[in-house]
Amino acid sequence: MRLLTVLLLIALSGCSKQEPTQPTEVTANAQSQHAVGAVPDTEWVKHGLGDDEQRFSLLDQINRDNVDKLGLAWSFEMYTRRGIEATPLMVGGVLYVSGSWSMVYALDAKTGALKWFYDPQVPRSTLAKGCCDAVNRGVAYADGKIFVGTYDGRLVALDAASGKPVWETLTVDQAQPYTITGAPRIAKNNVIIGNGGAELGVRGYVSAYDIDSGELVWRFYTVPGNPAEGFENKAMEMAAKTWNGQWWKWGGGGTAWDSMAYDPELDLFYVGVGNGSPWNQSLRSPGGGDNLFLSSIVALRPDTGEYVWHYQTTPGETWDYTATQHIMLADLDIDGKKRKVLMQAPKNGFFYILDRATGELLSAEKFTVANWASHIDMTTGRPVETATARTFDGVNVIIPSNGGGHNWPPMSYNPATGLVYIPTMIFPGNFKAPSRDIDRLPKQGTYNTGFDRTALVPPNIPDIDEELASQFTGKLVAWNPVTQKEEWSLVPGRPANSGTLSTAGGLVFEGVFEELVAYDATDGARLWSAPTQSMAMGSPITYAIDGEQYIATAVGFGGGIGAEAGAISHAWEAKNRSRVLVYKLGGSHTLPPLQEEADKVMPKPTPVTASAEQVQEGMVLFQRHCSFCHGDGLRSSGLVPDLRWSQPAVHETWQDIVRGGVRANAGMVSFAQYLSEEQAELIRQYVLSEANRVFVQQSQ
Ligand code: HEC
Repeated sequence: MRLLTVLLLIALSGCSKQEPTQPTEVTANAQSQHAVGAVPDTEWVKHGLGDDEQRFSLLDQINRDNVDKLGLAWSFEMYTRRGIEATPLMVGGVLYVSGSWSMVYALDAKTGALKWFYDPQVPRSTLAKGCCDAVNRGVAYADGKIFVGTYDGRLVALDAASGKPVWETLTVDQAQPYTITGAPRIAKNNVIIGNGGAELGVRGYVSAYDIDSGELVWRFYTVPGNPAEGFENKAMEMAAKTWNGQWWKWGGGGTAWDSMAYDPELDLFYVGVGNGSPWNQSLRSPGGGDNLFLSSIVALRPDTGEYVWHYQTTPGETWDYTATQHIMLADLDIDGKKRKVLMQAPKNGFFYILDRATGELLSAEKFTVANWASHIDMTTGRPVETATARTFDGVNVIIPSNGGGHNWPPMSYNPATGLVYIPTMIFPGNFKAPSRDIDRLPKQGTYNTGFDRTALVPPNIPDIDEELASQFTGKLVAWNPVTQKEEWSLVPGRPANSGTLSTAGGLVFEGVFEELVAYDATDGARLWSAPTQSMAMGSPITYAIDGEQYIATAVGFGGGIGAEAGAISHAWEAKNRSRVLVYKLGGSHTLPPLQEEADKVMPKPTPVTASAEQVQEGMVLFQRHCSFCHGDGLRSSGLVPDLRWSQPAVHETWQDIVRGGVRANAGMVSFAQYLSEEQAELIRQYVLSEANRVFVQQSQ
C-alpha cells in the first residue's frame, strides 16, 4: 500500500462530516451510582500535578462505576481558533489555561466565568519562527504568580489574582528563530524555561529566573557553541569533543522545548533535550560523533544550573528523535530493590528507566514499532542501530518518523495498576539525503532539516508493505515499567491524541481526536466519552471544589499535526473551535450544535504558463520554504490556507504577499531574503498546476 493512500485514509478519517455521537458503551455495573461523599477541595498546582509529574490524582468521586454519568458542567469559548496543547492548572478555585499565541485565561473553576484574560501581544509574524504552530503547553504557578513563556521568547510573571504583569523578561535573542511553547517549571526560588527552534537553526538552552525579581539566575546551554569563543563550563568542553565540523554555524539545535522535572529530595533538575539543527547529522557534524547533549536527559543543580549527569537516548541524532518528551519520576521495585527512577518514552520508540540519582540505565525496551535500532545494549547503554538506520535514499522507511513514537502529549502513571499510559504514534518517516544545494546549505530562519523534502510529496513517497501500513495509527499503550512490557493497548484510530490523566477512580482519560474518552485503567475498556467538537489535544486534569470532582480539558485543532495533517476537509477551518471543557457527575451543560459547513468551492484556476521542468522547480522551492506551514505537496490542513483554493486576487498580488510581506501581521512573512521574484513565480506555477489537477478531478 502506498503511503499516500495511508496518509489520505488517516486524514480523511479526520474529515468528519457527521456529528460526533455520544457512544453507548458502559460497563455492566454502571448503574451502581457511587455515593457522592465528602471530597476535599483538591487543586492541580503543577504542570504534571506533583513534582514527580505522574499526573495521577487521588480523587475517586468520578470512578469506573459512575463515569457514565459524567456530563459537561460548563464550557468556555477561547478567543482564537487554532491549536491548544495546554495542561490547565487549578489553584484556589481558579482554572488557569494557556491558549494559542500564549494567551492566558483565568476562569472560575466551578462556573467557567472569566476572571481575567492576558494577551502578551505576540506579533503574528513570529509564526514563521516555529515549526509547529503558535501553541502553548501550559503555565506555572508559584507564590501568587502565574508564569507563561510567550511564543516570541519572553517569560512573563502575572499576578494570579488580577492577571496584571508583575515582571517580564526576554529569554532569547529575538533576531534568531527562537520560540517558546513549553510550560515553565518551578524549582525552589527559580522559574525555569527552555525554548524551541532547532528546525530553523538555533542553539538550545534552559534559563532559570528568580521568581520574585525575574532576574536571570543561570543559563545552561544544551550543545556547545564555537570553541574559538571559549566554553561556558566543563560540560560544554566535554560535549564539544563529541562534535565535528562547524556545527555552531547552524546553531547545533538541542532545544529543550518541553519536558523538565524537579526532584526536591535529590536536589536535581532534569531537562529533556531536543534534536539536532539541521536534522541531517552528516551536514551538522560531518564524520559523526555522539553530539552531546542532543536527545539526552541532563540532570542539573536547580540553584546553579551546574551539570550533574546525562544520559543520551539517541547518539548521533539524525531523525529528529528528541528526548524532550515527558519526564516522569517514580520509586519502583526493580529486581527486588526500591529504585528512584526517571522514566521517559522519547520519540525514538524505546521506554527508558534510569536511576535518577546517577543517570544509570536500568532498562530500555521498545514501546512501539521501531526499526532504526534493534535494542539497547545494556553494557554500553547505547542503541544498536540496524543496518539501514542511516540509509537515506528516499526509499528506505524509518519508524518512528520524525513525529516520534511518542511526542509531547504527557503520559500518566497509576501506582495501583502499576501502569504508565502512553499516547503513542506509529507513523513512517521518509528521510532522503539532499541532492541539491538548496537542501544541503541550511539557512537560519528557514526550515532546515538537511533532508530533501520533495520526498514527502506524492508520488515520490516510497512503497510500504501492506502489513506495516496497517499498523500506522495512534495507540494508547498501557506499559508496565517494571517488566518493560505492554499490558494492553488500544487503537483509537488516528495519531495526535492528547496526554493522559490517571485517577484513583480507576480511570484513564484521553482526548481522542474529537472526543474526550475515559477508559478502565485495568483493561482499557471504554467506559465513557463526550464529543469535544474540535480536536482534543490539550491534556486533561482533575480537581475538586465544594464536594464535587471535575475533569477539565482544553481543545482546539492545530499544532505540528495540524500543519501536517494534510487533506483535511476545508470545512474544518470554519468549525475549528478552541474551548475549555469541564465535566462533573450529572453535568448537563451542552455545546452549541456544530454548524454544518459546506466545503470551500475552488475558484477556476488559470492555466499554467511554465514548463513542466519549471513547475518541478517550483515544487522543490515550495517544499523547502512553504510546506511546513502550507502542507507537504500543498495538502494543507486549513489552519494555514490551502493555496490551491486561493482566490484570483491572491494570484494577482502573489509577489506582494510572498516577497512584499503585506500579510506579515497575519503570520505570512516576506520570503524576499530567500526567494527571487522568478522563484516566487515558479512556486505560483506549481500551485496552479496542482490546483488545475484537483479542479479537473472535481469536475469529473
Ligand atoms: C510560518 C508559516 C508560513 C510559511 C512558512 C509560509 N506561509 Fe504563506 N501563509 C501563512 C499564513 C498564516 C497565511 C494566512 C495569512 C492571512 O490570514 O492573511 C499565509 C497565506 C499565504 C498566501 C495567501 C493565501 C490566500 O489564499 O489567502 C499565499 C499566497 C502564501 N501564503 C504563499 C506562501 C508561499 C509561496 C510560501 C513559501 C515561500 C509561504 N506562503 C510560506 C503562513 C506561512
